[in-house]
Amino acid sequence: MSFADRVIPVCLKVVLACAGGALLQACAPSDAGKAASPAVAAAPASVAVQWPHVTSEVKQDPQLEARIGALLQKLTLEQKVAQMVQPDIRSVTPKDVRTYRLGSVLNGGGAWPGNNKHAKVADWVALADEFYNASIDTAAPIPIIWGTDAVHGHNNVIGATLFPHNIGLGAAHDPDLIERIGSITAIEVAVTGIDWAFAPTLAVVRDDRWGRTYESYSEDPEIVRAYAGRMVRGLQGIAGTPQFLDASHVVATAKHFIGDGGTDRGVDRGDNLSSEQQLLDIHGQGYLTALAAGAQTVMASYNSWQGWKLHGNKHLIVDVLKTQMGFDGLVVSDWNGIDEVQGCTIDKCMQSVNAGVDLFMVPDDWKAFITNTVAQVRNGDIDESRIDDAVTRILRVKLRAGLFEKGKPSARPLANKSELLGAAPQSELLGAAPHREVARQAVRESLVLLKNKNGILPLARKLNVLVAGDGADNIGKQSGGWTLTWQGTDNTNADFPGATSIFAGIKAAVTAAGGTAALSADGSFRQKPDVAIVVFGEQPYAEYFGNVKSIDYQGRDGADAALLARLKKAGIPVVSIFLSGRPLWVNPEINASDAFVAAWLPGSEGAGIADVIFRNEQGTVNHDFSGKLSFSWPRQASETALNRNDPGYDALFAYGFGLTFADRDTLDDDLPVGGK
Ligand code: BGC
Ligand code: BGC
Repeated sequence: MSFADRVIPVCLKVVLACAGGALLQACAPSDAGKAASPAVAAAPASVAVQWPHVTSEVKQDPQLEARIGALLQKLTLEQKVAQMVQPDIRSVTPKDVRTYRLGSVLNGGGAWPGNNKHAKVADWVALADEFYNASIDTAAPIPIIWGTDAVHGHNNVIGATLFPHNIGLGAAHDPDLIERIGSITAIEVAVTGIDWAFAPTLAVVRDDRWGRTYESYSEDPEIVRAYAGRMVRGLQGIAGTPQFLDASHVVATAKHFIGDGGTDRGVDRGDNLSSEQQLLDIHGQGYLTALAAGAQTVMASYNSWQGWKLHGNKHLIVDVLKTQMGFDGLVVSDWNGIDEVQGCTIDKCMQSVNAGVDLFMVPDDWKAFITNTVAQVRNGDIDESRIDDAVTRILRVKLRAGLFEKGKPSARPLANKSELLGAAPQSELLGAAPHREVARQAVRESLVLLKNKNGILPLARKLNVLVAGDGADNIGKQSGGWTLTWQGTDNTNADFPGATSIFAGIKAAVTAAGGTAALSADGSFRQKPDVAIVVFGEQPYAEYFGNVKSIDYQGRDGADAALLARLKKAGIPVVSIFLSGRPLWVNPEINASDAFVAAWLPGSEGAGIADVIFRNEQGTVNHDFSGKLSFSWPRQASETALNRNDPGYDALFAYGFGLTFADRDTLDDDLPVGGK
């Protein structure tokens, strides 16, 4: 499908804010490249949705506000605009930060200090120090703020604890666990001297063809709403307490505002056709609790809403988010997100500045962006008061984050505390055992049992087990996208010190009880095993690389189904562990399995799977399955947009489904495989 196919020409009736409610007709042109974004932002007339005011637990502090005013006065226009840019560490040096007085940097997915995937914690902290020192080396210092995609743990850093991706956490239905995960993630980020995590993603995914489905907790706003505030609390600490944004906490980001999970046909960066009421009722629910908990930043989304790119949508960013909902933190653009807006390029976008974006993730072309934006202020395209508002918000977040008091990154209490470096054992360290224990618990809670014929699970430990499938001993595959690299590809088990593959977890469990575990990716064996555990599923992907046209799994061109069928034919009981970033149509694979577990993308602690599928050494249940689907599982491959409460809803496994060992499963091996 070409981009043009999904850009819907729009001719919108708009209410211009300045026209006092008078109806005007505005036709937003649409071209093949970009969705329309009217220069004067306005809402469609048919909807007059009042968004709720959200009372943030973070209160405005008059003293802090006065400090902002004083700081702002000292800055030239160029310096103010420089506060508004966020280059990627691959395209900026500490010298640039000193020269231009840059306000922020990020490391995008797969960006590491020195371009070294195996950069040590000390390398991260040293680079953070360099940026920080450069930023304060002036008469009017403003500390720099560094942001990173810590979206399932501190996932760009070797040795970090990797939690299940959000889709698995959604199945856990455990808000307390979410807050704990947030606080551990914050600690691991702080260890590397970084201030800010671009998480949580609050997408409510309505069509599972979307390549970012796994970044979402649920297809239903209920879980997203229940989790969003708790994740923000975990990352930032609880507002109003001394822990809030202290040395063990980092700034959080509610993203991607708004409607990212609801694009037409699940196309990444596509168009969300919802009404404004649906935008609030479905896609906006996570923001209500995230903002109440005090999320200090919101990231604009790549998608459009009714043909208007969010990055240029003043109605949603200013009128809705900042005014009606009352958000007083900063709005950051997404990676080159301004380029999505009609009339903009990656280095020039007054539409986006005027629409209320405050901080610009312009990873590479930041120099030109500064020049262009300054010129647009000088020629009147952008009012300087808008720049002042943006910088006020940026400074507010920096002051609230304590950056003016925390000192240089290496001097902060948690900096450099890493077991991998051989530092003294401490409970709060990068990849620390207690952190991994929580991740392992999260794995256990995320697993959803879809089939358990004749109660084959839980398995006894003292068995001869064949462990097959290309996911069995593959930590990269079990972790998915946003893992060391942007796409989560090009990783080997050697890139995950301290982590455990699913096979390693199984092996430890059975050998301790006198059983055996043989690893055989292709499922071949010499001696017939008592049981085969087959670990298979999607290969890692991120963003639009993961968009699919069909949700018919067809893993490795049918090789996975064939492997299962072969084992079954040999009379071996088969337990399938399915790794995926979304529900997929897997009827042939389910038919060939005695037990079928949706394991999502569990992350670094693969032993969580053995914890559940095996009995304990006394032969009783070790951990029962408790995960319940937060995404409906399709009966037909055509059911890509299958969501609870839809008219005519007919899922194979409905939202909320998940067997426990006490359930007597009636599913046989006869699911229809034709006519999908
Ligand atoms: C970066 C990612 C970013 C992506 C966007 C990549 O090169 O590393 O962090 O999200 O580009 O296209
Ligand atoms: C993604 C964001 C991410 C950013 C920085 C973008 O491509 O959409 O989720 O935070 O890159 O890596």
